[in-house]
Amino acid sequence: MAKMEVKTSLLDNMIGVGDMVLLEPLNEETFINNLKKRFDHSEIYTYIGSVVISVNPYRSLPIYSPEKVEEYRNRNFYELSPHIFALSDEAYRSLRDQDKDQCILITGESGAGKTEASKLVMSYVAAVCGKGAEVNQVKEQLLQSNPVLEAFGNAKTVRNDNSSRFGKYMDIEFDFKGDPLGGVISNYLLEKSRVVKQPRGERNFHVFYQLLSGASEELLNKLKLERDFSRYNYLSLDSAKVNGVDDAANFRTVRNAMQIVGFMDHEAESVLAVVAAVLKLGNIEFKPESRVNGLDESKIKDKNELKEICELTGIDQSVLERAFSFRTVEAKQEKVSTTLNVAQAYYARDALAKNLYSRLFSWLVNRINESIKAQTKVRKKVMGVLDIYGFEIFEDNSFEQFIINYCNEKLQQIFIELTLKEEQEEYIREDIEWTHIDYFNNAIICDLIENNTNGILAMLDEECLRPGTVTDETFLEKLNQVCATHQHFESRMSKCSRFLNDTSLPHSCFRIQHYAGKVLYQVEGFVDKNNDLLYRDLSQAMWKASHTLIKSLFPEGNPAKINLKRPPTAGSQFKASVATLMKNLQTKNPNYIRCIKPNDKKAAHIFNEALVCHQIRYLGLLENVRVRRAGYAFRQAYEPCLERYKMLCKQTWPHWKGPARSGVEVLFNELEIPVEEYSFGRSKIFIRNPRTLFKLEDLRKQRLEDLATLIQKIYRGWKCRTHFLLMKKSQVVIAAWFRRYAQQKRYQQTKSSALVIQSYIRGWKARKILRELKHQKRCKEAVTTIAAYWHGTQARRELRRLKEEARNKHAIAVIWAYWLGSKARRELKRLKEEARRKHAVAVIWAYWLGLKVRREYRKFFRANAGKKIYEFTLQRIVQKYFLEMKNKMPSLSPIDKNWPSRPYLFLDSTHKELKRIFHLWRCKKYRDQFTDQQKLIYEEKLEASELFKDKKALYPSSVGQPFQGAYLEINKNPKYKKLKDAIEEKIIIAEVVNKINRANGKGSEAASKGDFLFSSDHLIEMATKLYRTTLSQTKQKLNIEISDEFLVQFRQDKVCVKFIQGNQKNGSVPTCKRKNNRLLEVAVP
Ligand SMILES: Nc1ncnc2c1ncn2[C@@H]1O[C@H](COP(=O)(O)OP(=O)(O)OP(=O)(O)O)[C@@H](O)[C@H]1O
Ligand SMILES: [Mg+2]
Repeated sequence: MAKMEVKTSLLDNMIGVGDMVLLEPLNEETFINNLKKRFDHSEIYTYIGSVVISVNPYRSLPIYSPEKVEEYRNRNFYELSPHIFALSDEAYRSLRDQDKDQCILITGESGAGKTEASKLVMSYVAAVCGKGAEVNQVKEQLLQSNPVLEAFGNAKTVRNDNSSRFGKYMDIEFDFKGDPLGGVISNYLLEKSRVVKQPRGERNFHVFYQLLSGASEELLNKLKLERDFSRYNYLSLDSAKVNGVDDAANFRTVRNAMQIVGFMDHEAESVLAVVAAVLKLGNIEFKPESRVNGLDESKIKDKNELKEICELTGIDQSVLERAFSFRTVEAKQEKVSTTLNVAQAYYARDALAKNLYSRLFSWLVNRINESIKAQTKVRKKVMGVLDIYGFEIFEDNSFEQFIINYCNEKLQQIFIELTLKEEQEEYIREDIEWTHIDYFNNAIICDLIENNTNGILAMLDEECLRPGTVTDETFLEKLNQVCATHQHFESRMSKCSRFLNDTSLPHSCFRIQHYAGKVLYQVEGFVDKNNDLLYRDLSQAMWKASHTLIKSLFPEGNPAKINLKRPPTAGSQFKASVATLMKNLQTKNPNYIRCIKPNDKKAAHIFNEALVCHQIRYLGLLENVRVRRAGYAFRQAYEPCLERYKMLCKQTWPHWKGPARSGVEVLFNELEIPVEEYSFGRSKIFIRNPRTLFKLEDLRKQRLEDLATLIQKIYRGWKCRTHFLLMKKSQVVIAAWFRRYAQQKRYQQTKSSALVIQSYIRGWKARKILRELKHQKRCKEAVTTIAAYWHGTQARRELRRLKEEARNKHAIAVIWAYWLGSKARRELKRLKEEARRKHAVAVIWAYWLGLKVRREYRKFFRANAGKKIYEFTLQRIVQKYFLEMKNKMPSLSPIDKNWPSRPYLFLDSTHKELKRIFHLWRCKKYRDQFTDQQKLIYEEKLEASELFKDKKALYPSSVGQPFQGAYLEINKNPKYKKLKDAIEEKIIIAEVVNKINRANGKGSEAASKGDFLFSSDHLIEMATKLYRTTLSQTKQKLNIEISDEFLVQFRQDKVCVKFIQGNQKNGSVPTCKRKNNRLLEVAVP
């Protein structure tokens, strides 16, 4: 398990010293070593009293999590390890609870982490201040203003990939509860020269790259832009891509932030249109053109770009074109127009681009302010956060560095003032004697620069406004005259020529000895940059734009408001704004964050001592520590002090009853700390030397160890004793239980033994009694037995005697009985014989009588009646049957099939016989009616029946037709009549036949020789008659074959003749058809 670390002071687990005030000995080396040691242990924050030194880690550290926020929330400044959150919390609580306006001054050189620090402060305050929908919106807007301003005001430089190119001061406003209400942002001196030119390895402002990478095709088309960076002269190409920076994604973030801050869509778009116009301005190029009068003139090379800019901004192309070619100077009533040569045209173009961009930036700040400004008019508490460029010393330092360093000089001054003031106030508050602290006051340098009569800025303004030729050289000359004697001013041309031999000081330069070091400024460009001129023609052209935003950016272009007075110079503007800022800061309670850059490589873990040393020097940090330590190095309220060190003294340990102050007094007396080492304030103890504090800490540490041992000792003792007591108690309980158990067991044993013995004795006694009783019983039984035996013997003897007696008597009786018996039997036999004889006589007599009687009466017995009745009944039934039959007789027609039903089963055969006889009889009757001729015909029919019945299909239909024999009325034929007389034989049948030709199977009536193949309608009759005639004549039976199919030899062919059912159409004549060689079909109708 991780050891829980409970911190009560920054002195706990300190790496190096957390507060430089405690550094011993104090010098540059120890200072840097301490910073390095802490930096190596990822402790990037170190205090100098209430000032926070922050060393840029160049890597993300896990020290800004929400848990950390909670850890630092509502804790005293020195309670935890140094952290930017501790300072933020202190400032916020002091604002909320003590109603003191706060300002947080963040300084340091480029890349030291100022902007990051300012964001950390804002996010911490946002996290700990009030919550709620409205408040959250305000917070969100305040936080989201950062990405917007960073996009337009930050750029990649060699020092920092996200370098702020403007100074920023933001007032966050709170209500009485500490809830944020809104904010106001002020911006200082945007580095606008960057718009038109960037040093090597640096980029233009982020927004240009973000727009080209992140905008949709549609937006690009609308803005008439191309995605390719190389198309634009104002974009430096060698470092257009920054490692780890996604411009496209950032563009989306910025658009989103703009939306949150409150930019309308059309506003955002017109902002981007201005950005596009600036980019495109860079692409306008000029070429020289000589005029007749010898004046140089310039001409725009390619007007396409100009045209697009004009379309984008809604400016008349000719107006803008003219503005790039002419310059109008107005003085009093006069208006003089001069042409611009190529260089002037380029100057004008760049001036326009710079002005357009810087004014857009100021407009943005104002627009954001509009959104984030507090909505109420109630009194507000204010926390200002100043993120301003730090002191800059480059190889070539120009007007910008001069201005920036002036600003830092002022900040240093206010730092000194406020720190000392605060220190002094604390001493007064705590009623401690104030000792004077010697320190370097840079007011003299500030004076050198800003003095209204002979300050450098005043000189420069004077030069700029002076009529006649004005150059940077004339300005330097003037400086040489005025400032030559100033301690902090050096120049080669200064009157006393002290520096003539100083080769490090070239011509056209001056050097100022700033509080942070000497800086050499190149005088070139000072006048121009201070003038910050934009030709009036251009501002007027801009004012004419239909693009409302652009128009609003150039109010001076309005001809109605022509102001012949020169606009204030850049220097004087800056001086004024710095003065306002200083005034503002002076009313607030300052909190300092001093940012230090550990290396030039933007790399983590590298601590370049020389670089840090330089920064420490010009930030005056050692000075800072000295000031802080001038009086007393360390101070602490009495309560926490007593709480921390009370274990060092018996009286105060473990509890001090009484005021904390007297407790601390007792404690310090006891520890014999020299009186001059400390001082008692009203609420705090002041310790002069860190040594004393460390001594106290050492003692505390040692004492804590002792105390730990003590606690350990007591705890162990307590633990052992508790354990022992517990064991003892347990032992008693166990012993008691064991004894009880043992006794119980013994008792049980004794009890069971007693029971066993008892039972044995009882058994033994019982058995003894039993034995005795058994003996007694046996004796009794023996007596009885003996008596019984005796009585038995006596009885048997008597019995024997009586039996003897009885036997004797019995024998007599038996013998007598036998005798009587045989006598009786003999008598019985005789009697039986006699009875039998008598009986036999009686029986014979009876039989005889019976026979006689039966013979006489047999005829009267019923036995004969049955037969008679039977016969009678039978007779009656038969009689009835016949009578009924008589009435029911069927007709005499032989074909009548009717026959009455049989009435009695027994008459079945009779009934059938009767039917047969009747049938035969009626047939005979029928036959008897026939004439001889009819008989003959029937005989023939009978013959036909025998021949054809069931053989010929034609037969049944022929039965009904009587045989006629003569069909042709041949008797009437005269030929026949003649013939009849000649021959005896009579005609049997006369009929027309079809003869079928043997040769071809065709039918014909003409006969020819050979076998006959006839066809006739009266086949059966004909065949029968043929049969009969043959039989009667020859006494031989004719062989008749009946068939529908037969084979016939036609000449040489064997032909099958087949009779089939024919069509009625052909009448009654059969038709023959030769189907093929082998088949002859005869269709019979
Ligand atoms: N506390 C920090 N933790 C992690 N990284 C940091 C921290 N502070 C600064 N940095 C890193 O250093 C870089 C530079 O910091 P920042 O932009 O704040 O510098 P600056 O002091 O504002 O510089 P300039 O004056 O150029 O604006 C940041 O982009 C970031 O990468
Ligand atoms: Mg910055």
